[in-house]
Amino acid sequence: MVTKKPLSSSLFSSLIFFLLAISCHAFSIREASISGLQLAFKQKKLTSRQLVEFYVGEIHGLNSVLKGVIEINPDALYQADRADYERRVRAPGALVGLHGIPILLKDNIATKDKLNTTAGSFALLRSVVPRDAGVVAKLRKSGAIILGKASLSEWAAFRSLNAPNGFSARGGQGKNPYVLSDDPCGSSSGSAISVAANFVAVSLGTETDGSILCPSNANSVVGIKPTVGLTSRAGVIPISPRQDTVGPICRTVSDAVIVLDAIVGVDYNDGATQEASKYIPHGGYKQFLKPYGLKGKRLGIVRNPFLGFASKAESQAFEYHLQTLRQGGSVIVDHLEIANINAILNSTGSGEAIALLAEFKISLNTYLKDLVASPVRTLADVIAFNQKFADLEKINEFGQDIFLLAQATNGIGKVEKAALINLEKLTRDGFQKLMRYYKLDALVTPGAGFAPVLAIGGFPGINVPAGYDDKGVPFGINFGGLKGTEPKLIQIAFGFEQATKIRKPPTFKA
Ligand SMILES: *[C@@H]1O[C@H](CO)[C@@H](O)[C@H](O)[C@H]1NC(C)=O
Ligand SMILES: *[C@@H]1O[C@H](CO)[C@@H](O)[C@H](O)[C@H]1NC(C)=O
Repeated sequence: MVTKKPLSSSLFSSLIFFLLAISCHAFSIREASISGLQLAFKQKKLTSRQLVEFYVGEIHGLNSVLKGVIEINPDALYQADRADYERRVRAPGALVGLHGIPILLKDNIATKDKLNTTAGSFALLRSVVPRDAGVVAKLRKSGAIILGKASLSEWAAFRSLNAPNGFSARGGQGKNPYVLSDDPCGSSSGSAISVAANFVAVSLGTETDGSILCPSNANSVVGIKPTVGLTSRAGVIPISPRQDTVGPICRTVSDAVIVLDAIVGVDYNDGATQEASKYIPHGGYKQFLKPYGLKGKRLGIVRNPFLGFASKAESQAFEYHLQTLRQGGSVIVDHLEIANINAILNSTGSGEAIALLAEFKISLNTYLKDLVASPVRTLADVIAFNQKFADLEKINEFGQDIFLLAQATNGIGKVEKAALINLEKLTRDGFQKLMRYYKLDALVTPGAGFAPVLAIGGFPGINVPAGYDDKGVPFGINFGGLKGTEPKLIQIAFGFEQATKIRKPPTFKA
């Protein structure tokens, strides 16, 4: 666990940093992007060790309030020293990708090192994973430093309907760094909180239904929810192989794309990555970070019911942003409708809940069985663990209703098959048909309310910061598309971000 130090130590670390900054010709780590950090490395204004020390100082200072981080990697400084050494001895061109850049991982992403992988639950503490998650292996190959594990809604919000967003037994209550009393959303809450608050520049989250897009929206950061299978789910504590996906949460579209480039691709431990690898463009995704990305794009607007989910400030900003998108050269195709949208957004009626409950039990039991060692080996064990320690952990106040429903399932039977068929039909007749009929490149919606539509079809989406309401609470804008359309979504998201540049650092208002 992260040791809890008072806020004053943040002032202390800031002071140290200030002195460091002077000695480094005023290069500021706070808010720095990957390319900014890499330039500072190159110009010898910064080392990876200094970078890790800065981030660890910030975490020690503010995490007692924000609760964005569960564990810091005891080997992070060692990895930083190795990166600094490599930078000294290797040809500059040999250092690509994320070389020397620290990253935080949501605590449901396995690392075969000193860090625990627990989904925020004490039930998985001291479990030993067989290997790094597929995405972690790729991150290490790309030269990234594993800084630690980010907090989350316990079990990626699949334990109890009543548990608050961003809350876990191990992590405590994650806080929104813009307005501490406001919802950080979830379940990748710690990943979004941590990049927003400059605990790190880049992080990974996971999404089954909204868990990247919603906390990115709430914490004013960029989240990419990739097409299912584009990134490996092997070694990720699962909910559903049909909907789970791993993606970057960062402060800028460019940073998110650099991380995406590092983690996509085939992993023999996740069959879906073979099929989805056909979507990966030759030369990666960075080539789509170009000016004029909005030019000639056809963007659909479905007002009902998505505008209805937005606050007044948010819907006003949304209308203004549509103008910006038009000015960038996009065609706005307004007042569209998605067939059966109410049925799609009702997870009970659509069949999503039925499918997820059965898929969760099957895939979690497989994950637990594959662990080298673990205090729990089945969902039933986890439920028993929670019952046994019911009085010791505050999270138990919220029960484990989803776990109990999942435990009562018995594989993919008749009911589940019907649910899966219905989900496919809703997607085919709804989002997919609309996108094809109007030849749309993306659908634009305020906030994260569109997440279920993307979730049930395995579709990608990107959240970009889009404003703040009167109280300073952030909101974002979502660009969603058909499978494999990340290149277009990145062009649009980058075009919007560059035209608006709305994000500002948090001020930790009460
Ligand atoms: C992992 O959990 C064990 C048991 O609580 C703890 O001793 C260890 O410090 C944890 N690892 C890290 C990196 O925090
Ligand atoms: C969602 O669907 C279920 C099952 O069809 C139905 O009982 C429920 O009333 C629906 N909820 C809403 C808000 O429409």
